[in-house]
Amino acid sequence: MTNTAAELLDGLRQDHRNMARLLRLLRDETELISEDKLPDFALLRDVMRYMTVYSDAMHHPKEDLIYEGLRALQPSLAEGLEQVEAEHEELAELGQRLQDDIEAVIAGTEIESARVVADAKAYMHRLNEHMTWEEEDLFRRADADIDKIAIDASHLSAIDPVFGEKHETSFTNLRDKVEHDPQ
Ligand SMILES: [Fe+2]
Ligand SMILES: [Fe+2]
Repeated sequence: MTNTAAELLDGLRQDHRNMARLLRLLRDETELISEDKLPDFALLRDVMRYMTVYSDAMHHPKEDLIYEGLRALQPSLAEGLEQVEAEHEELAELGQRLQDDIEAVIAGTEIESARVVADAKAYMHRLNEHMTWEEEDLFRRADADIDKIAIDASHLSAIDPVFGEKHETSFTNLRDKVEHDPQ
């Protein structure tokens, strides 16, 4: 695990770039559904699985460590931080809803494509908004005092199952797709 808050924050920014790439894949596949064309549902499932096992379970807790450190160090810079937890919960719920839609389609359950599109759009919209807020505001607040923020992230894995040096084999298809996709 990375040791300093500065390294952790660098990793969070990299995570956002990675998630933005996955959101572009999600957007393209969602467009296909809107046009009544067949998307790659297995790919969609992998994207949303990553969002659950990495973004929700690892990325957000790492951010929470930075924000807690910032709050402890500079209460005057803590404005709005209380919103973060609710947004992370909302993103997890929206992501779960979309994941359930995709699993239902793959299982052969009748489900309106308009619903899948609406759930995908809601997820993409909120995640983009949330990441923009963090990058343009929260991460910058942390930048100013990053060397003074003490964190202990030893309980959080540093392994990224898609974008890490050693990806997880269940994500091989998604990893290949990302590697061959123009950025
Ligand atoms: Fe976040
Ligand atoms: Fe984030």
